[in-house]
Amino acid sequence: MPLKVLILGGGNGAHVHAGIAASNPENEVRVMTLFQDEAERWSKALESSDLVLDYTDKDGKEKQFVSKPGLITKDPKLAVPGSDIIVFVVPAFAHAQYWEALKPHMEPGMVVIGMPGAAGWEFQAYDILGDKAKGITFFNFNTLPWNCRITEFGKRVGIVGFKDYFVGAIRKGSVEPKVDPLKAIQQSLGPRPVCTAYGDLLGMTLTYTNAFIHPSIMYGRWHDWDGKPVSESPLFYQGLDQASADLLSGVSSEIVAIAKTISAKKAGIDLSNAKHISDIMLEFYPEDIKDKSSFLRMMQSNKAFEGLRHPVINNEGGGVSPDFKARYIWEDVPFGLVVQRGIAEIVGVPTPNIDKIITWGQGLMGKEFLVDGKIKGKDIGMTRAPQRYGFTTLDAVLGAA
Ligand code: NAI
Repeated sequence: MPLKVLILGGGNGAHVHAGIAASNPENEVRVMTLFQDEAERWSKALESSDLVLDYTDKDGKEKQFVSKPGLITKDPKLAVPGSDIIVFVVPAFAHAQYWEALKPHMEPGMVVIGMPGAAGWEFQAYDILGDKAKGITFFNFNTLPWNCRITEFGKRVGIVGFKDYFVGAIRKGSVEPKVDPLKAIQQSLGPRPVCTAYGDLLGMTLTYTNAFIHPSIMYGRWHDWDGKPVSESPLFYQGLDQASADLLSGVSSEIVAIAKTISAKKAGIDLSNAKHISDIMLEFYPEDIKDKSSFLRMMQSNKAFEGLRHPVINNEGGGVSPDFKARYIWEDVPFGLVVQRGIAEIVGVPTPNIDKIITWGQGLMGKEFLVDGKIKGKDIGMTRAPQRYGFTTLDAVLGAA
């Protein structure tokens, strides 16, 4: 029996996952994208073409995955029933509609995977799925296994880089999963990256790295910006300065303190996956980091980060200005730092560095999340903070209430 893989989304990552999974006849691949007419356009594109993924292999040779996913639809009745694994490969701001669409068709024993789910993924799932969440196994990863960009919608995608290692966490439901979650995701992704899973699901929400890396570095570079355009977009990681690295490390230490406090309160919860950012970097990029002498040097010398720049907008009069509308603020603050700060509040851990960045970020967005030291601002409805769902106890955050 083939593994029935349902991929949610229609962007870069969804194309790559669909293409790789469908290139193995042991997988039966369906894609569900709810966005506009994307499903129709993608199906039509594949009437006259295969889905081709271009990449450079480790031996330096140009290679391709060539395949055709079995079904691309926006209809959950066609897509969901019978699925073994259901994989979210779509930005966090679009997740709610997918949970709503999945809900009527969810079967106990299904495995739902966030790739990445981003912070608070499971809170939204519990809120929307209600009792249906009980029989489901949740498996969240920290990121996407590839850097990738569509070159021709529906037909062709470039995989710029593969991660070598891919780390996630599993929380089993009350019903045994239909398939082994780790074996199944590995089968759908092929041999690269090597997938592992350990620790509680909450560890992924706490250490969803984009959530705190991006806003911390944005804050470090731009919080005292004088408003004058700069000549070019600064390098995001290679151009990191000591103060920004210290801030990022400080934010990460606050998150580790949240995890330690939770572990002290709940002996059975394994949050060994909620590590400091320097340890996470060594775990994800053991071969890419050239200089491990300090945290700053690790970030500056990571091959996987080479050439990545700050999001900017071009100025008519020349030069560039920071793009404060970028995902690094608009996604990573409400679907990241605010969630982590909300958990800190529930367990009473002070987070002065996180607070400073949220205060700055919400100001840029013209939103209110953190007010008078509490996650209670008028805009928490656009976040996935636990408070937004009425989860105000540790048991609720852990899915036990
Ligand atoms: P993407 O930017 O390609 O996603 C676009 C897709 O999202 C659209 O095709 C559509 O299906 C959906 N979408 C967009 N606007 C929507 C709306 N208003 N309502 C409903 N659906 C909408 O995303 P990508 O690149 O596939 O990334 C997926 C996740 O992986 C993101 O969270 C991203 O931050 C993360 N990631 C991506 C990397 C990459 O290289 N592409 C690398 C590392 C992480």
